Formats: sequence, C-alpha cells, structure tokens
Amino acid sequence: MVYGRHAAPSAPLLRVDGVSKGFPGVQALQGVSLQVDGGECLALVGENGAGKSTLMKILSGVYAPDEGQLSLNGRPLSLGSPRQAQDAGIAIIYQEFNLMPNLSVSENVFVGREPNAAGLVRRRAMRRQTRELLDQLGVALHPDAIVRDLSVAEQQMVEIAKALSLNARLVIMDEPTSALTETEVAALLRIVRGLKERGLGVIFITHRLDEVLAVSDRVTVLRDGQNAGELSTAEATPERIVRLMVGRNLGDFFRKEAAPSAATGRPALEVRGLGRTGTVRDAAAIVLHDVSLSVRPGEIVGLAGLVGSGRTELVRAVFGADPFDHGEVLVDGRAVSIRAPRDAIRLGIGLVPEDRKAQALILGLAIRENISLAGLGSLARFGVVRRGAERARARHFVDALSIRTPSLDQKVVNLSGGNQQKVVIAKWLSLRPKVLIMDEPTRGIDVGAKAEVHHLMSDLARQGVAVLMISSELPEILGMSDRVLVMRQGRIAGELARGDATQESIMALATGVAGGLSAA
Ligand SMILES: Nc1ncnc2c1ncn2[C@@H]1O[C@H](COP(=O)(O)OP(=O)(O)OP(=O)(O)O)[C@@H](O)[C@H]1O
Ligand SMILES: [Mg+2]
Repeated sequence: MVYGRHAAPSAPLLRVDGVSKGFPGVQALQGVSLQVDGGECLALVGENGAGKSTLMKILSGVYAPDEGQLSLNGRPLSLGSPRQAQDAGIAIIYQEFNLMPNLSVSENVFVGREPNAAGLVRRRAMRRQTRELLDQLGVALHPDAIVRDLSVAEQQMVEIAKALSLNARLVIMDEPTSALTETEVAALLRIVRGLKERGLGVIFITHRLDEVLAVSDRVTVLRDGQNAGELSTAEATPERIVRLMVGRNLGDFFRKEAAPSAATGRPALEVRGLGRTGTVRDAAAIVLHDVSLSVRPGEIVGLAGLVGSGRTELVRAVFGADPFDHGEVLVDGRAVSIRAPRDAIRLGIGLVPEDRKAQALILGLAIRENISLAGLGSLARFGVVRRGAERARARHFVDALSIRTPSLDQKVVNLSGGNQQKVVIAKWLSLRPKVLIMDEPTRGIDVGAKAEVHHLMSDLARQGVAVLMISSELPEILGMSDRVLVMRQGRIAGELARGDATQESIMALATGVAGGLSAA
C-alpha cells in the first residue's frame, strides 16, 4: 500500500475514479467511479454479472485495475495484495464464504494473524476476543464450534465477526444477507447502523431492495460494468432502482397461478413419519421429528421456517444425502429405498441445494459440462456424450435463465455468483425431474432473473412436476406456494392453505409465538 504525502481532510473515506477491469471475453468494469464517506452506508446494486464483486475484489486487493485510481482519505491507494487492503483498514465479507471448514470459529476469526506470545498461539485470548465479537453481534455461537458443522447463516456470522476483528475503517459486505432469515437480517442491519455510528464506511451489496432502502444512505447502480446512476436513498424507490439496474420497468412480483384441480391426485412425493437423531454441538439431539408431507404433481409446496428449523436437513434426508432413522418415502404411491442421491435421481427426484458452490458445481468445468452432468444418462450413448445434444441443451438454459457468459465453454469458476447459481438450477431443470426440491432457489439472484426463475418453476408445475420449495423470503413463499408447510425445531409446526398464508400466520408458526416475533 502506498500513501501519497498530502491528505485532504475533507476528502471522502474512499474514492474510486474511472476504474476498468477486463477478463478474457468480458469487460467486467468500464470507467466506474464512486465514493463512500465515513459514517455512511453505500448500497451497490446491479444485475448478476454487472461487476459488483469484481469492483469489491479490486478494493480488497485481489485484482489490480487495468485503469483508474483509488484513494483513501484523499491519499492515493495502491493495493498489491489482500494483506495490504487489510492493513489499510478495508475489510471484506465475500459473497462466497472464505472459511476453513475444519477449523474452529475463533481460529477462523483470527486465521493468519493469531495473537502470538513467544511463538505460542494464545488460544484463550483468541477465544475470549471471539466471544466478545460474537456478543457484540448478538450471536449465540461457541468459539470452539467447528465451522464445518455450522449452518450457512452461522458461517456468515463468523465472516462478519472476522471483519469486525480487523478494526476496519471501511467494511465491504458482498450479499451478506442472502442466507439469513428476516429476523437475522434485521439483526445484521442493526449491526451496519452500529458500524456507521462508529464512523466506519460500509459498502453493502444486495439484491434485496427492501434492505437497500432500510440501511443505505446512497445507492450506486452498476449496469454492464458501468455506472448507471446514483440516488440518495431518501429519493429512491424500488421502481427507480430497478429501472436503473435493468434499463426497463419490471412487472409486479411474480405470482404463480393456483394449481389445477388435478393437483388433488396421488402425491408424486410422500414422506411419512420421518425422524432423525443427530448430534448438535456434540450432544445427541432430535434433528427431525415425525415429519410427514406430500407434494402432488402440478403443485408447489412452500417449506417455511427459521434457519435451523430442519428444512434443509429434511430435504437432504429425502434426497438420500443424509441418513434417517425412522419413517418412509413414497414416490408415486410406492415405498422406495433412497440410500444415496443417485437413488433419488433414478426415481426422478432433483435437489437444487442451498450450498450450491460446495455441493452442486464443478467449478473448473465449463458451463456446458456442468449443465449436462446430472443428465449424463440421457445424453450418453455408447458411453460417449453427444456433444451436439449437450450444447443445444446448455444453450437453451443459458438463454432461458439469462446466464451472462461470453460462451458455453466458460469455466463456471469465472462466472459471477448469481450466474453460478443459475447454472445449478439449469443443471437440475435439464434432468426433467418429476419431483423437484429447491432449497432457497433465488438466493443471490437479481430481481429480473428471479422473475424468470419463478416463471420457470410455475411452468414446471404446469407440466406436472411436483415442486417442494424452501425459502426464507416470505414474499417468495406467499407468491409461489399452493400450500405452505412451516417447520419449527425439526417438526412440521403447521400447514397453511394458499388463502390463509400471510407473513403473520407463517411467522407465528415458525416462532411458536402468536403474532410471530416483532419485526424489530
Ligand atoms: N476471474 C474471472 N475470469 C473471467 N471472467 C470473470 C472473472 N471474474 C468475473 N468475471 C466476469 O465479470 C463479470 C462481472 O462479474 P461480477 O462477479 O463482478 O458480477 P456481480 O455484479 O458481482 O454479479 P452477481 O450479482 O451475480 O454476484 C461477469 O460477466 C463475470 O463472468
Ligand atoms: Mg457478485
């Protein structure tokens, strides 16, 4: 990091001037400028692939810009490495977690800079400081818990604690809320306000415009790697932001039409009395208790509940990714034995998982190859993948889901986060499953593409696919579900018909508190 000699006292905390960055076949950023003051939260928004994460990687020393300048408090800033950005007081929480799964929470918070005394790692101090940070965040996590055992939401909290521990002047959060429930989001937004009060600058990237309006002071919009406009949050509306993002007006939130009466037929998927005992923080605990549900062809069943209520555990057990101790699964009315995902796939069940990067994509392979992986059976003849068929199928889904890429041969690792997620969805859609389970299907997906995913889900249902959808976004649950099941502490706490499901009725079941938790 190099500081110039003269600091202008009135200069903004961070200034980005005319920054450009290209990759082979993609101009990710073109002459982008923005600034952030201390005590201010800047929301950075834009469609999947607009260049948000690339810009943040430049600010955190991962990439060098091809052109343009950065300055911090009026001093030119040249970042040769992430370490230099960290030393300059810039902390980043990545869109894809960057934690060491086999290390504990406190080891992750202090990774690379463990407090040392005479060469000894002072674990106790590390633990104490970690606990203080988690307390500040209001998070009930044990510093010794192993990150591998944490939920996505808990891992996110570790990332945030790690950033706070850096005593940063500028905190960058790249889609920090996409894995959190409403209550957890509210807690995070409070944390952001606390950072502002302490005079820190925050750059907050999100696809959720309600969060933009709730937490930011200004909004900068990127479109196709360029500045598309800037608004003060006071004058911003969702419509104005979306128009700048996509260059057009979008219709209202998509709403699935009610399932036809045929959806009262025999369930395509039925779960009876499913139970599982597991360990939580090394103690035996009931993970799933006597869960029964059914999904009929043509129906979308929404699975709501707080993070940790057992939704992901349930669908993983059904899909054969985790074992279960009691109960049975029926497909088309017949009891089946699903011991591994391959059994589920053979029976026509697909699962778009929550943790897409870890579980669903081979990052080093091309988009084309990833889309065809799950469906190799139908594409392979005499053991040879039919390349033409593979390309045609990949092309169809890249267009249908507007996956932004210079070519079908692009490696998935080079796609933006949202576009990687679309590849996972494409992979499962291309299998033509008769039961499709989707765990947070539009997390990290921009507003335009979200509507496209919702249309696709609705089309699938119309074609007779039975869809089971986990979502922590209540508008998505309410808009898309024919019926809503709400889980709490490993059980189905209740079922709501389409007409009876409201934010309040769902939250009341999810929390077990009449009226739900107060929104604050
Ligand atoms: N290492 C790389 N190699 C090639 N292309 C890249 C690389 N990193 C990013 N890109 C491309 O640059 C563009 C911008 O990507 P970026 O990740 O910045 O988007 P984003 O705005 O963060 O999108 P999202 O909302 O999906 O996270 C995309 O077209 C992406 O595919
Ligand atoms: Mg991104």
